[in-house]
Amino acid sequence: VTNRAPLILALESSCDETAAALVEGSRVLASEIASQIEIHARFGGVVPELASRHHLDALIPVLKPVLDELAKHEKKLADIDAFAVTHGPGLVGALLIGVQAARGLAAAVGKPLYGIHHLEGHLCSTLLAPDENENTHSKSLSPHLALIASGGHALLVDVQGVGKYTIIGQSRDDAVGEAYDKAAKLLGLGYPGGPIVDRLAAHGRADAHRFPRAWLEPHSLDFSFSGLKTSLSLHLNRNGQPQDRSALADLCASFQEAIIDVLIEKTRRALLQTGHKRLHVVGGVAANSRLRTKITELGSQHGLIVAAPPLRYCGDNAAMIAVAASLRWTAKLAPTLDVDPGLSLDD
Ligand code: KG4
Ligand code: ZN
Repeated sequence: VTNRAPLILALESSCDETAAALVEGSRVLASEIASQIEIHARFGGVVPELASRHHLDALIPVLKPVLDELAKHEKKLADIDAFAVTHGPGLVGALLIGVQAARGLAAAVGKPLYGIHHLEGHLCSTLLAPDENENTHSKSLSPHLALIASGGHALLVDVQGVGKYTIIGQSRDDAVGEAYDKAAKLLGLGYPGGPIVDRLAAHGRADAHRFPRAWLEPHSLDFSFSGLKTSLSLHLNRNGQPQDRSALADLCASFQEAIIDVLIEKTRRALLQTGHKRLHVVGGVAANSRLRTKITELGSQHGLIVAAPPLRYCGDNAAMIAVAASLRWTAKLAPTLDVDPGLSLDD
């Protein structure tokens, strides 16, 4: 038994990114991502059948440079300690492409295969930040509160350690990224809408329009974003599309502020409730500039340690899946694989 960092090869294909990565501990040796954004953009959302077909096409092209990197380190497939793959939640046809490929790789060299929950991957993505002062091999998941804000989720999670997750708040309807994407669609801005709204909002006034904030019951840490989308839709029905760039920017900034106010306030309440002094923000929407600013403010107000992944690891990638497996390997948790499109994080 040794404490050396495991060499992990991981695949991710749960939604519209086909990704492969090679990680040693939490050090990324290679991370390849093929995005299907252009394929789904004209439909304004991900088309499951098209996603599966494109994962099939993209898998070998993303794997090839990762295997080349392995060869550069004078290593072979048999030198990999373990393989990892996202086994849920996600689109079932899309998940199966990655899972079957990973099964083949692991079986070929007789090594373990870890099925990883997609959100556990996001939770581990903060460990991908390069840190010169830290021994990357000893990195682990310290107890913290996590806000997972992605295209499919809005969750507050009490993280006690690897594999120890308690969901304390979640969306009752739309996910955070979904709210952004639907707003962008209503405004005719293209897909995915999050980054576009983020950019436009930076030049707008957040108090130009008053959009509703759904606080729900007094002690609830849950979210609801569908009313906000309806409210934007009603606004556009009444007033028409914004007439110029600055009116559009104001609308985006005001819409965004309604989302972020709720995210920040519920996060603040969750910190008080759990007593956590460490806050991580992960998922595609963790790339949002306004959210990052407000989280940093919250951190300095409450004396918190705040972490978010580097921008390139906010969205879906395989490096985060590899790190999750690396933590499980180090913690001596037995690998499991159970393909499930509706897999939950805390069962
Ligand atoms: O984590 P992710 O890549 O996929 C899921 O697992 O869902 O998240 C994608 C979501 C999309 O809805 C996209 O619009 C949103 O993240 N997103 C953003 C930004 N960048 C990506 N939302 C707001 N601001 C951004 N800068
Ligand atoms: Zn994701």
